[in-house]
Amino acid sequence: MSELRFDNQVVVVTGAGGGLGKAYALFFASRGASVVVNDLGGSHKGEGQSSKAADVVVDEIRAAGGKAVANYDSVENGEGIIDTAIKNFGRVDVLLNNAGILRDVSFKNMKDEDWDLINRVHTYGAYKCARAAWPHFRKQKYGRVINTASAAGLFGSFGQANYSAAKLGQVGFTETLAKEGAKYNIIANVIAPIAASRMTATVMPPDVLENLKPDWVVPLVAALVHSSNTTESGGIYEVGGGHVAKLRWERAKGALLKTDDSLTPGALARKWNDVNDFSKPEYPTGPADFMGFLEDGLKMPSAPKGEEPDFKDRVALV
Ligand code: NAI
Repeated sequence: MSELRFDNQVVVVTGAGGGLGKAYALFFASRGASVVVNDLGGSHKGEGQSSKAADVVVDEIRAAGGKAVANYDSVENGEGIIDTAIKNFGRVDVLLNNAGILRDVSFKNMKDEDWDLINRVHTYGAYKCARAAWPHFRKQKYGRVINTASAAGLFGSFGQANYSAAKLGQVGFTETLAKEGAKYNIIANVIAPIAASRMTATVMPPDVLENLKPDWVVPLVAALVHSSNTTESGGIYEVGGGHVAKLRWERAKGALLKTDDSLTPGALARKWNDVNDFSKPEYPTGPADFMGFLEDGLKMPSAPKGEEPDFKDRVALV
């Protein structure tokens, strides 16, 4: 058995000065890759900056005989980060969009500044880095991207409306990159990790964190960005604490209604069970066939009129 290698490849890791990013950087360097260790070096709330975080990781990689170079830009300057890869190593093969911050506050007290900063780092930053790498990926007909979502984005999380919105945004972003990249052998996947870091130290107790090593997220990321993965793209993965699982959408049976003026709230209420019927689910990878539904809907008899149910005091339709 041989180990998964990344010789002659250039891996850019954003936010690689600590937590998950550091674990990625150390791993890929140990497997032969040249690594750009990007980190702005600020606080977990996005305040300040320092070259120290990235330098420490670069020193550790070099001391172990690996190849790495530091970059201290904010991910908002994606061009600068990708430029560091090109200038030092001549190419870029893998982009791990990992940098992140938190500005947790209840929605009632959220300020524009909290919303904007989160979106600048997570949404705009991931976009800028991928946008700068994209022409290289297309030209060489090879590229691998990991974007970083979060359970907060997938399921919502108290005090994290800004972060949740940005993190679910990574899912849509990744799905589109996977589609646009397919022709050029560019593979993009998105992970919702859970791991001990200075970020999770603010919300989880130490005994739980002990069992959530960042190193345990690395194997999934490594497998997805390896050249041997030519098919798994656009995947959403939960990963942490030794557990790895793919997530997907589920669509209920759904209701079809006659598309004329009998399509009223009452007509919908009568079919509300079908709207919510998951007994025979579909697992869609694209939107429903609305044109087909429209055609079928037109052929149906009109719904009976004048039978609006009493909606008063009803929480749900049924
Ligand atoms: P961390 O705080 O240990 O690491 C994030 C790194 O990103 C820091 O070193 C920070 O300096 C850097 N960074 C922040 N803003 C930056 C910017 N504008 N430009 C460049 N670097 C910047 O956090 P952790 O836990 O390792 O998080 C990594 C990613 O995983 C983040 O995107 C986070 O949102 C996500 N995540 C982590 C979870 C966890 O359980 N640790 C859960 C869900 C998502």
